[in-house]
Amino acid sequence: MSTLEVDTVNATESFRHAMRRLPSGVSVITVGQGSDVSGLTVTSVSSLSIEPETVIFGINRKSSAWPILLRHGVFGVNVLNARQAEIAERFSGRGGVKGAGRYLGAKWMTKITGVRLLTDALAALDCEVDDIIERHSHDIVIGRVRYVHLSSNRSALAYWHGKYLEVTQNSGTGTIPDSVFSTT
Ligand SMILES: Cc1cc2nc3c(=O)[nH]c(=O)nc-3n(C[C@H](O)[C@H](O)[C@H](O)COP(=O)(O)O)c2cc1C
Repeated sequence: MSTLEVDTVNATESFRHAMRRLPSGVSVITVGQGSDVSGLTVTSVSSLSIEPETVIFGINRKSSAWPILLRHGVFGVNVLNARQAEIAERFSGRGGVKGAGRYLGAKWMTKITGVRLLTDALAALDCEVDDIIERHSHDIVIGRVRYVHLSSNRSALAYWHGKYLEVTQNSGTGTIPDSVFSTT
């Protein structure tokens, strides 16, 4: 078995490699209302507490969604299914699409707070900001869940070693073909 030592010179690179080994679920955070909307793809979503129902995620303050999140004080957590890798790519900003353009080509609904929720996400949570903790380049956002939408979809989108994976209960994992990322 080989081990990689963390030295101070390469600490950042070693840390990046370590985090690439952590398999994560992929969610899209939606923010804003009307034409004042944006969103971002995240792997940092986690549940904080069950009672009350709260979630937590990290957001880079340079992200275009950050000022909109602060203005409206509400957000959606859309847990992506395995067929939504293209949506994850769009909301990661890699194709250069900004703001409301990121929402095109998918079905959205609103529930209590007014943020858009993906109708066929594996799960969608309508949340109000409970608290924001500023730390380094990111804010840690705590959200109170106001509405839960569940779909019958059974395969999840995960991210591991810089690639999207499909996670299913029956057949384990499989890679998402690169062809889904054709940006036409
Ligand atoms: C798989 C994946 C996970 C990400 N997770 C996070 C995250 O947890 N927090 C964050 O701030 N950005 C995360 N990002 C980056 C944001 O999606 C990206 O910076 C943002 O959408 C682009 O910002 P823009 O709206 O300014 O273009 C992630 C990107 C990818 C592809």
